[in-house]
Amino acid sequence: MSYTSIANTYEDFVKGFHPKSGLDLKFYKQNQMQRRILSFMNSHGHPAYPDFLKALNSDPILYDAFFKHLTINVSQFFRDANQWKTLRETIIPLLLQNKAPLKLWSAGCSSGQEPYSLAMTMMNYFSNAKFTVLGTDIDVNVLKQAKDGIYKQNDFASTPPEFLQKYFTPSDKGYQIKASVQNNVNFQHQNLLTDRFQTNFDFIACRNVVIYFTEEAKEMLYKKFTDSLRLGGILFTGSTEHLFGMNHLGLKPVSSFFYQKG
Ligand SMILES: C[S@@+](CC[C@H](N)C(=O)[O-])C[C@H]1O[C@@H](n2cnc3c(N)ncnc32)[C@H](O)[C@@H]1O
Repeated sequence: MSYTSIANTYEDFVKGFHPKSGLDLKFYKQNQMQRRILSFMNSHGHPAYPDFLKALNSDPILYDAFFKHLTINVSQFFRDANQWKTLRETIIPLLLQNKAPLKLWSAGCSSGQEPYSLAMTMMNYFSNAKFTVLGTDIDVNVLKQAKDGIYKQNDFASTPPEFLQKYFTPSDKGYQIKASVQNNVNFQHQNLLTDRFQTNFDFIACRNVVIYFTEEAKEMLYKKFTDSLRLGGILFTGSTEHLFGMNHLGLKPVSSFFYQKG
């Protein structure tokens, strides 16, 4: 199968995949997505889009594997450790100047490592502060893992060892996050591109989610995040994600990868 011979049916695939998945691939960069889809089709013995769409509709295991392949769920506790240091030393103290309980959101939270890292940061360094954490993702399978809260050793590559001892219980399945952390985090299914957002957040982390979004989709999303933040609230982006050319949104950088609504 050649890449170009079926490239003209990509739009049909996008249209056909949307109703079942709720995922509108027109918001994602075509080149990268098409390459990912074709590599999955090749490795699963589906040479053409129409046959592949049919198989996705009739085979739930194939559908789940494909959805997982598309959404790329890689995560880690305290991913990019330097930024978590900035978060606890500068950003959270800044946010706590506002006396109300902090409302924190991990948007595109995968299997929970990021929202649980937020909860552990608050519990460990700001034990008197009141807060809530929301974790949302489009992929129901990762949300189930997040709620189960069981993790493997490689999820902890950036985690201070004392956190592992303090907030996890080893079991034969892996490391179970303690209920005291879980109780602070609420998980919800959500498509960032089409669903409505809650408002009045102090802090939104959206990291390593928009890499495959088109420029238009990114700008629309950052506008929605800005509307969801309270005045003075902060957006935390991934280490390859900058808001270049988006000054009109009203977010100004306070540190690398942290933007404040002014
Ligand atoms: C690479 S993970 C990032 C996890 C975490 N934020 C981190 O940086 O470690 C990207 C997550 O974004 C989610 N995602 C992709 N498109 C989405 C959308 N339109 N709405 C909500 N979540 C989405 C994927 O399902 C995946 O779990």
